[in-house]
Amino acid sequence: MTAEPGETDAGLERALEEAFARAQASLGEGRLATYIPELGRADPSKLAVSLHTVDGRESGAGDVDEPFTLQSISKVFTLAYALRSVGNGFLSRMSMEPSGDAFHSIIRLEQEQGRPRNPYINTGAILVSEQLPGRSPQEKIDGVLGFLRELARSDRIDVDNNAYRSEAETGNRNRALAHFMKHHGTVENSAVAVDTYFRQCAIRATARLLGRMSLFLANKGVDPVTGRRVLDEESNRLIVALMATCGLYDEIGRFAVGVGLPGKSGVSGGIMAVAPRRMTIAVYSPELDPNGNSVAGLAALTALSEKLRLSLFE
Ligand code: DON
Repeated sequence: MTAEPGETDAGLERALEEAFARAQASLGEGRLATYIPELGRADPSKLAVSLHTVDGRESGAGDVDEPFTLQSISKVFTLAYALRSVGNGFLSRMSMEPSGDAFHSIIRLEQEQGRPRNPYINTGAILVSEQLPGRSPQEKIDGVLGFLRELARSDRIDVDNNAYRSEAETGNRNRALAHFMKHHGTVENSAVAVDTYFRQCAIRATARLLGRMSLFLANKGVDPVTGRRVLDEESNRLIVALMATCGLYDEIGRFAVGVGLPGKSGVSGGIMAVAPRRMTIAVYSPELDPNGNSVAGLAALTALSEKLRLSLFE
């Protein structure tokens, strides 16, 4: 790995401290997601920044061991697991373009005859869920959990059943999206697809575990800790490129300017970012901006990107 400015241990620590302080100063500016009632019970004071380099260093500030549900961040990992276990045939049923709309938008789905714009908006992720190996939603999610536990080298990743039930009871918009895709033949079994999707969104990890399990994405598909190949290079590039263009929905342009990294957010307040060949960063703070992205998480990533010159567009 080439030496980068600020990437000495002391440089990383200093950048982390400053980013954490900047994120802390923005606490109170956002709002908890309440449309999934269980997410409205999160503690808004929680804040975590966890940094993991491909050469094996790990550093964190704040509540890095606080569990939270991955929500839309799970979409990156289900896509990886699906590509790895069933191949890429299903990609022909969706596009690879940013939507410019909210994650649960239905307008384009209608305009484009049930074809999702990309795998990170809800419709694309529901399609991917159905592709996961296993018959029942439970079997499919057990496979994903096994994959994530191996990547994180931890058994402390599970499904938060309260969050799952909370979304299953209220997620009628996602059900509508799944039924609409069934109407167009994009999914076969909309009930299985959407139930699997609800379960995957409720997968619970911590910022520390999320940062660890993302490392292969920064290292051309190879887990730098174990040396094991997780994904072929082409699939890895696809996943990371789509994070850069579609990972924060209709806020991806601002994220590209301010942070300049591939990233993926979730409505629980997590964001995972990948600096190719250098590091992964996982942040958590549950208060969101109007686009559904963590306010303090964005502040921390913006500061880290500046301090460590991480932007791919420099
Ligand atoms: O489908 C939903 O609405 C949630 N389970 C996940 C959405 C989400 O995380 C969007 N990201 N910012």
